[in-house]
Amino acid sequence: MYRTHNNGELRIQNLDLKVKLCGWVQKSRDLGGMTFIDLRDRFGITQLAFNENFNKELCEKARKVNREWIIEVEGKVKERSSKNSKLKTGEIEIEVSSLKVLNEAKTPPFTIEDETDGGEELRMKYRFLDLRRGPLQNNIILRSKMSMETRNFLDKNNFLEIETPYLIKSTPEGARDFVVPSRMNKQQFYALPQSPQTFKQLLMVSGFDRYYQIVKCFRDEDLRADRQPEFTQIDCEMAFVNQQDVINTFEGLIKYLFRKILNIEFENSFPLITYDDAIEKYGSDKPDIRFDMSLNYIDDLAKGKGFNVFDQAEAIVGINIPNAAEYSRKKLDELTDWVRRPQIGAKGLVYVKYNKDQSFKSSLDKFYDADTLKKWAEKCNSNPGDLILILSGDKAIVQKQMNELRLLMGERLELRDPRVFKPIWVVDFPLLEKDEETNSYHAMHHPFTSPKSEDLKMLNSDPSKVRANAYDLSINGVEVGGGSIRIHDRNIQEKMFEILGFSKEEAENQFGFLMKAFEYGAPPHGGIAFGFDRLCTLFGCKENIREFIAFPKNNQGRDVMIEAPSKIDKSQLDELGISLPKIED
Ligand code: AMO
Repeated sequence: MYRTHNNGELRIQNLDLKVKLCGWVQKSRDLGGMTFIDLRDRFGITQLAFNENFNKELCEKARKVNREWIIEVEGKVKERSSKNSKLKTGEIEIEVSSLKVLNEAKTPPFTIEDETDGGEELRMKYRFLDLRRGPLQNNIILRSKMSMETRNFLDKNNFLEIETPYLIKSTPEGARDFVVPSRMNKQQFYALPQSPQTFKQLLMVSGFDRYYQIVKCFRDEDLRADRQPEFTQIDCEMAFVNQQDVINTFEGLIKYLFRKILNIEFENSFPLITYDDAIEKYGSDKPDIRFDMSLNYIDDLAKGKGFNVFDQAEAIVGINIPNAAEYSRKKLDELTDWVRRPQIGAKGLVYVKYNKDQSFKSSLDKFYDADTLKKWAEKCNSNPGDLILILSGDKAIVQKQMNELRLLMGERLELRDPRVFKPIWVVDFPLLEKDEETNSYHAMHHPFTSPKSEDLKMLNSDPSKVRANAYDLSINGVEVGGGSIRIHDRNIQEKMFEILGFSKEEAENQFGFLMKAFEYGAPPHGGIAFGFDRLCTLFGCKENIREFIAFPKNNQGRDVMIEAPSKIDKSQLDELGISLPKIED
């Protein structure tokens, strides 16, 4: 037996117990006659004490032990003279009677401590060492708890966990597919699923009623802090449900997770907003509602006073920044530069200071008098001491820019506390998105999403006005999940493919299996998928999903530890019937 206890387990109640422990050397301290070692494993740290007076030889041996070596010790639990209240085991130490080195270790390339000196690239290369650090251990432990509790909840609610294949035919979810060549079917390719969408629908046709899967999905898209090329979904589907049934069930899951994992109770239902209102009010379909600062449209109050930029703008939008009237010129210039960056793309920023003495100071004093500015202030719910920031231009573009500015100001005013959670359902998404360049439509969610029955009549005449039975759940400005009630009627599904520009043959060729299934008794059904990595990151009060994935990819989609992707041998290519053109390095 290697050990009787782990390193987070022993307490004062275990006094004088003979124990055997194993673990990594976190650090050792040599205090003349005494040597102390902090022994670490994922459960905690236990202090080991070696006393020269009792056993000189053993103490010598302990002094030779270095950081990250793995040792096995035997000894007795003793009360510590100087207790450490920060450690669970801080009241005791082990008076060691024997020490065995199980494995020596090279000096790690960065310190294995909560705060490390290693850069991201180095830590990724030595991910196995990075993962030893406390914060990452906690993230991965949180993730494990989250998946267990998810399974508990769904199991209790009659969901079956059913696996679906990874080697499939492409499913359009808006990203590019990763493809896998087939050796047995030369020059043919599988696609890795962007999600199990069509399979879960087929499982409803098969009568399983309630399906879930904690499943890997693969999308070849540009990466950001909340996106990975392979990520995990809690993927779910239910038969005989409408939108409200799905929302109720999965609000239940999210509340259950908050209760079990973070001990947070949500007494009331999560708020719900339509897509149109979310865009109008926040400029985003995933609004962060931890703070207000909503968008106010001052077009009527600002046009016709000789300021050309506003006169020509489709929309003039202001947000109120509480207690910021004292912002310096420098700060305002810096904000102007910020909105002018190409990523935001505004031409300029107008400010109005509503001073504490109720006077106004704006960047447009030439054009607008105090009475007009007062009206703007009323429209923007501004009080003396506040600052109004205004952008103008094409409405949809200004809304997007305002969303960015709103989030930035929320951040600066520390209104986006990661330990405060504000979920919101966003419903009634448009069914289709128009690509102005190609003058074609694509599905805003995916092609299997059903149109609202009352909007069906506009499908031919005014497709962009048709709303979908689609919904997202956002928490703190992060889209954590999305789903829809599906089409279960062959004719409507065919019509949908037609609108999306598929010829009859293309639709049949790609999705014949699904449409065929709809002819054999498909129940009304719908579902949702949660981004599991995002959910864990949020619950862990962090932003980068990489910190909650044991072996993530970097921003170039590379795993720098295993060096993937990589070239493959010519023999492998030959077997697959693939030859590669030469490309310049
Ligand atoms: P959707 O595409 O909205 O829906 O994905 C569901 C959720 O998955 C998360 N997500 C991601 N997380 C990390 N990295 C990515 N690259 C990434 N892409 C998406 C998001 C998102 O809300 N089949 C449908 C679901 C359904 O209709 O039931 C689907 O996949 O949190």
